Amino acid sequence: MAELTPNPAEDRGAWKSKLGFILAASGSAIGLGNIVFFASNAYQYGGGAFYLPYFIALFVLGIPVMIIEFSIGTMTGKSFPVAMRQLVGKRGEYAAWWTISCALFITMYYITILGWALTMFVGAFGGLLTDPAIAPFTGMDTPTDGPNATVYFFGMIATWAPMLSVAAIWGMTILILWRGTKTIEAAVRIFVPLMWLFMIILIVRGLTLPGGVDGVLYLFTPNMDGIMDVNVWQGAFAQMFFSLSLGLGTMVAYASYLPKDADQINNSMLVSFLNCGFEYIAGVAIFAMLFVYALNPAGTTLSLSFFAIPQGIANFPFGVKAFGAFFFFLLVIAGLTSAVSLVEGMASSLIDKLGISRAKGLTMVMVPGIVGSFAFALPNVIDPTLSGDGTLGLTLLDIVDHWAFRYSLLIGGLFECILIGWILGADKLRAFVNKNSKFNLGPWFNVQIKFVIPIILSLVIAGTLWQDLSGGLYGSTYDMEGYQWLPAALPVFWFLSTVVMSYVLTNRPTQEHAPHNVSNPA
Ligand code: PFF
Repeated sequence: MAELTPNPAEDRGAWKSKLGFILAASGSAIGLGNIVFFASNAYQYGGGAFYLPYFIALFVLGIPVMIIEFSIGTMTGKSFPVAMRQLVGKRGEYAAWWTISCALFITMYYITILGWALTMFVGAFGGLLTDPAIAPFTGMDTPTDGPNATVYFFGMIATWAPMLSVAAIWGMTILILWRGTKTIEAAVRIFVPLMWLFMIILIVRGLTLPGGVDGVLYLFTPNMDGIMDVNVWQGAFAQMFFSLSLGLGTMVAYASYLPKDADQINNSMLVSFLNCGFEYIAGVAIFAMLFVYALNPAGTTLSLSFFAIPQGIANFPFGVKAFGAFFFFLLVIAGLTSAVSLVEGMASSLIDKLGISRAKGLTMVMVPGIVGSFAFALPNVIDPTLSGDGTLGLTLLDIVDHWAFRYSLLIGGLFECILIGWILGADKLRAFVNKNSKFNLGPWFNVQIKFVIPIILSLVIAGTLWQDLSGGLYGSTYDMEGYQWLPAALPVFWFLSTVVMSYVLTNRPTQEHAPHNVSNPA
């Protein structure tokens, strides 16, 4: 692809080529969401009932919101909060810092999950996958003897070993980010093609298992009953935002390193199609395996990647360890390029706002981030019967994920559409996008971002809130010795701390960024 003309804000960093940007943005989008959450959502909502709403969500919400986020980045050459301040004023900055603060929580546990995946990767060479037995698992006090994946996973998270993996993932993330776009581009040039290669190996394996095609049929056979269920639509919209890395300022930061005249319709389509293509391929590979071995990934989304898939792999006729290692390596590299983008979104926001060096910005994110990731990896067993999550870390993760995942991204997207559509003006945005694009966005795009998307997002958010408030506090039925206060305390802590962070940061003066060379972060 073509070489890019340098961005005027060169001291912040700039992508060397369009290919570099597309790899980085698709590396952000393709992550745990594609490999694990899509398939488990699709399973939970009944296969064919899910992919159609999901497909609709791509065109109605996904691509338009990505066009908005890319444009916010290129119009201003700044990351989310400073960009919003420039475009729509202080209100915009409050909203942006709130979502950036939510991104911190999501990053913390996203990296813990990656740490577990890394520990399972190491396990694939040792005790994991040595015995395909599907022994009934009856709790953490009385683990069954067979080293099946469930036993292995709960045994693993109840040790301190994942702390090491969590530290390693944070270390790799910071290393990749150290010299900004230069090092990110170098990393994604290796990791993103590798992800595709590994996924293709897994899909070929899945489809050539006898009976694998039935799983694929289940995934793609439309199911009209499911389509009438509002939960399916809610699930599809939330999954679409997460999968495309929208609503948290990540794509704004990546686009801020593009030249002003980048074609954002083309970029958004490319990144979205690469992401969703990968997701469907992953879905096919996983559904094939679930059907062949009659596995049920019931329970949390994590159970699919950590129990059901390894269990399936353990049953492969040959190459069990190799495929197990492939799978967890794939999870780690796909997740790593997403974690990198989340941290970049936050660090670049601090750098642009406070005028600090890259090293300082990264440190300000890493220090609280690593403390949080460690907390989510705490191995103390608080529910030996496993009527909840077993360990303190997993319980914290489960509850924080419930709130942060279900609200932050969608609220972030809602703010963006309302502020950009109504305050900046949808016409202005459209004129900016159309100037540089081969295709033109018609006036329908105004209706889309001023009315259609805000109405859909408001309905989904209100519906989710209604479920949460009317159905009993999430997690309150879990057994947790001495920690029964967590389900109430965690959402309050999450909400208050994000509001306080947003207030404090918005009210700091915006410093002119002291020019520094990205290649010398000190
Ligand atoms: N899109 C990533 C995934 O599918 O795993 C997760 C993610 C990354 C979400 C960055 C949001 C974000 F800003």
